[in-house]
Amino acid sequence: MTPPKKLIEVAMPIKEISAESVRDKSIRHGHISTLHLWWARRPLPVCRAVVFASLVPDPLDENCPQAFRDAVEMLLGNQAEQIDYYAPYKDIPWTSVYDPMEDNLRNRLQLFIGKFTDEMQQHLLYHKPKPAAGKQIADSSLIKWDNKNNEKIINKARKLIWVAHNSKENTGATANDLLASFDDHYKAIKDAEKALYRLPDRHIETEQVLQATANLQRAIDAFLDKMPRVFDPFAGGGAIPLEAARLGCRSYGNDINPVAHIIQKGSLEFPQKYGKPISYSKTEFIKLYGQDTWDKLSGSQLVYQNGEAIGAKIDNRLSFDVAFYARKLLSEAEKEIGHYYPADTKGGKPIAYYWARVGTCSNPSCKAEVPLLKGFYLANTQTKQVYLHPVINGKQIDFEVRHGKCDLDGWNNRGNLKCPFCGSITDVKQIKQQNINGGLGERLLAIIVDGQHGKEYRLPTLSEIASAAIIPTVERPTEKMQRNSAGGDTFSWGVTEWGQMFSPRQLLALQTLVQKLQEIKAALQPDKDDYAKAVVTYLGILLDRVILSNTSFGRWHNGRETLEHPFAKQAIPMIFDYPESNMFCNSTGSAYNQLEWLTRYIESESNFPFASKMQNASSGEKNQFAEKYLTAVVTDPPYYDAIAYADLSDFFYVWLKRTLGDVYPLNFATPQTPKTEECTALKHHHSNSKDRAKAHFEDKLTQIFDAIEHQTSDIVSIMFAHQSTAAWTTLCNSILGARMNITGSWAMDTEMANRSLGLAGAALESSVTVSCKPSQREGFGSYREVKRAIEQTVAIEVEMLYKLGFRGADLLTACFGKAVSEFGKYQRVEKADGSEVSVAELLEMAREAAFNALLKGFDGDDVTKFYIGWLQLFGFAESDFDDAAKFSRVGLSINVDELFRQHILIKNGNKQTLGTYEERIMASKSLGDKAGGNLIDLVHRAMMMYKGSDRQALLRYINERASQPDGNFWRVLTSLCEVLPQGSDDYKQASGLLANKDSLIRESKTVQQPAVEQTRLFE
Ligand SMILES: C[S@@+](CC[C@H](N)C(=O)[O-])C[C@H]1O[C@@H](n2cnc3c(N)ncnc32)[C@H](O)[C@@H]1O
Repeated sequence: MTPPKKLIEVAMPIKEISAESVRDKSIRHGHISTLHLWWARRPLPVCRAVVFASLVPDPLDENCPQAFRDAVEMLLGNQAEQIDYYAPYKDIPWTSVYDPMEDNLRNRLQLFIGKFTDEMQQHLLYHKPKPAAGKQIADSSLIKWDNKNNEKIINKARKLIWVAHNSKENTGATANDLLASFDDHYKAIKDAEKALYRLPDRHIETEQVLQATANLQRAIDAFLDKMPRVFDPFAGGGAIPLEAARLGCRSYGNDINPVAHIIQKGSLEFPQKYGKPISYSKTEFIKLYGQDTWDKLSGSQLVYQNGEAIGAKIDNRLSFDVAFYARKLLSEAEKEIGHYYPADTKGGKPIAYYWARVGTCSNPSCKAEVPLLKGFYLANTQTKQVYLHPVINGKQIDFEVRHGKCDLDGWNNRGNLKCPFCGSITDVKQIKQQNINGGLGERLLAIIVDGQHGKEYRLPTLSEIASAAIIPTVERPTEKMQRNSAGGDTFSWGVTEWGQMFSPRQLLALQTLVQKLQEIKAALQPDKDDYAKAVVTYLGILLDRVILSNTSFGRWHNGRETLEHPFAKQAIPMIFDYPESNMFCNSTGSAYNQLEWLTRYIESESNFPFASKMQNASSGEKNQFAEKYLTAVVTDPPYYDAIAYADLSDFFYVWLKRTLGDVYPLNFATPQTPKTEECTALKHHHSNSKDRAKAHFEDKLTQIFDAIEHQTSDIVSIMFAHQSTAAWTTLCNSILGARMNITGSWAMDTEMANRSLGLAGAALESSVTVSCKPSQREGFGSYREVKRAIEQTVAIEVEMLYKLGFRGADLLTACFGKAVSEFGKYQRVEKADGSEVSVAELLEMAREAAFNALLKGFDGDDVTKFYIGWLQLFGFAESDFDDAAKFSRVGLSINVDELFRQHILIKNGNKQTLGTYEERIMASKSLGDKAGGNLIDLVHRAMMMYKGSDRQALLRYINERASQPDGNFWRVLTSLCEVLPQGSDDYKQASGLLANKDSLIRESKTVQQPAVEQTRLFE
């Protein structure tokens, strides 16, 4: 029997998932992203939804086991609970994919994944105010952040997966049988947990403790043996395996990068294994933690007998130990180096020090030493403005801290120094040379303290300046950075080694922490005990967090008054002024605060017992799993050349090698992170050849997909977020090359907040998830038929996605998946002459089909059609030069040179942007004056007039060119308003004009002719 389709192949509540995914970006406490920085983390709601929907069948599929349908009815049906939580929406256009929504099991399953709250439904239906982020998705939804530890909701998902998985083989079993077996297995785990965690002093491995531990492991294994096996070959920060484990699956993951591997240990393995309750006798507790800690235990942590405290009960052993040893480490370090961070006369500790690099004026008769400040604000928020006011005395620059607006220009413009003494310019090349020759000087300019009303700023005292100037020299990591990627432009500044990213005091602090960690390791012996290894791993992670906030390439964000790490742009830019946090203070930047993020994460992921099994290896090894051992692969491969994971993560690697290298000797055996096997298309790793980089990426991806096709029985779901056709071509080639075909494709938004700014094209705001079936592609397809099928599929897809709010490159790429599925049915698609159609040609066809579908129904001249089509796809963002040529060919008879001549497109090097109405009129003063010109020209002229103050002239223009309410002019303006980025000036003028359409037409009928003409009339 053909297996039923999985839910992901037929339906996904993408609007709901998108809404919760956008929210996920701003969630902090207990979120996986707060444990340790990793690049391009997938939002948890998308991961949970995709894993779940890849494991359950579509209940409406004729081959869906009856037991599964019954289980959906029992768990999500209208009789399942007192309130019918999963009843389909009555009628909200364009929420779930099919509209209106029938009350059927498929739709109930979708709304279990994610359903909008009543408030959000009101917003969608009647434009009522949009509820706050946390109130858009119903509490009954699987993907809701707040439900990650909600046993009732998560168990519904686990039960559905259990029934789906076990009814595949055991066709005779009923839903009741299967659900009862789930309950038995789950209860066995709960009982075994209770039995183990109630044993006092279970840290001592007595016979009884070992027995109870083994019992628990057996119960967990018995449960997992009946659940699907899910693998992520590109696990990164671990979002996908975390969610697979949460859903009760046997969860596996690989990542080539040792830094990612350490993060995975800390997020997917240790909390689930060790973050559990423990009780101690008083003697044991004091032996482990000392009398001081005993004395500080709260009442609720003490165990009493006959009124006397005889022991302690700790809710989470792992987080307690991590906090205990981290505090020990920090206090030992403070004892040794705390005096380099002196307190003020009242004992107050600064929270951060504000430094600037100093350049030398190249004018030989000046040679002034000038802080390379781009501006002077320390704080520039809506409610607070504080700045450093320069006071120049002879060749000396002093500063005063002043409040209010600062009108002064900075002395540093893109690295060029403008000397405040002599006015000479020392250009950026010379400043770079100064850094290369011996390093730019550094000057402590301000001290940031926590005051009664938030952050306060003052000048440094002499003792603070002196303390920072007498720092003993310590070892500086000399490992090399990579040019072009992690190095960003620092390379041209002579910053080529990782150790150069720290000031002397920062280095002293970091090396002291490393040394203190060695002492703790010697005591805990992580090489002999897995639990100690876990604790020590978090101390290494803590140091990474401290390192990230203690580099001289961090940034002081004066608009938020926060310290920002150097990786905002996924490459490290040169920084001229930076904050140095005081790791021993009590404020947000302190090491103690960093520790809190760790313990919060541990506690928030300790509830469930399912740990993931992670490997630090390059994926693609066919023997890693037996043939068809895995049920599903859910993964998020690197986005072509977008992120240089290995290069960037060396920032951490060089320190982790020092902190945890001996604990994980195999993982940290190489001097730096492995680069050659990384599956990315970075040309600087391939002799600077774009083609070789592309070929490497494609080969590696195909090899990995080939292995997973061999290892996976059911489905492979791949998330991808790169917008370039080249990246997509490679991905599709690899999927098809690995004998799989795409059977479903969904675009999910993760950055919706930016959409209103019209940033389409600047960054891919959504990711596309394609589900693939390991299958034999069969037969030959004819080009003509496949083309027709693609055009039809894409047209439906465009219409749906457009209504869902997708635009630009997001919209285009979202169509790719559907287009490939038409193509990938066949082993080979041929043109009439017998030549094979390539994936690149096919994707081009998909783009064209999308563009034509967008223009469907719009009747106007070709230039105007082009303008509106382009606007929908790219907004006013820059795009590659090639794109213009390609689009002008799409069914429109336009010459691309003509588009530039008419300022429809405006050249910018080898890129281009669409001309705004203002740019077009500035470039051609007579635009829209000619009768019979392009409609877009007339509309742009009218928009300019609407912005201006001469209403009479506008009315005359309307009278002449747009007097018919249903004429072409107004239809174009309406189309334009639909696609212009809201918030842009173009949108403001176009929508203003449209809103006044009726009155403008009315008034235009009575408008007077210009005065000159009137005079003539009377002559
Ligand atoms: C897009 S990221 C995954 C992000 C992840 N989904 C998350 O939410 O954090 C891709 C990952 O693939 C890893 N990678 C690259 N080449 C690899 C290879 N050959 N084998 C295994 N992992 C690889 C990178 O180190 C990176 O962590």
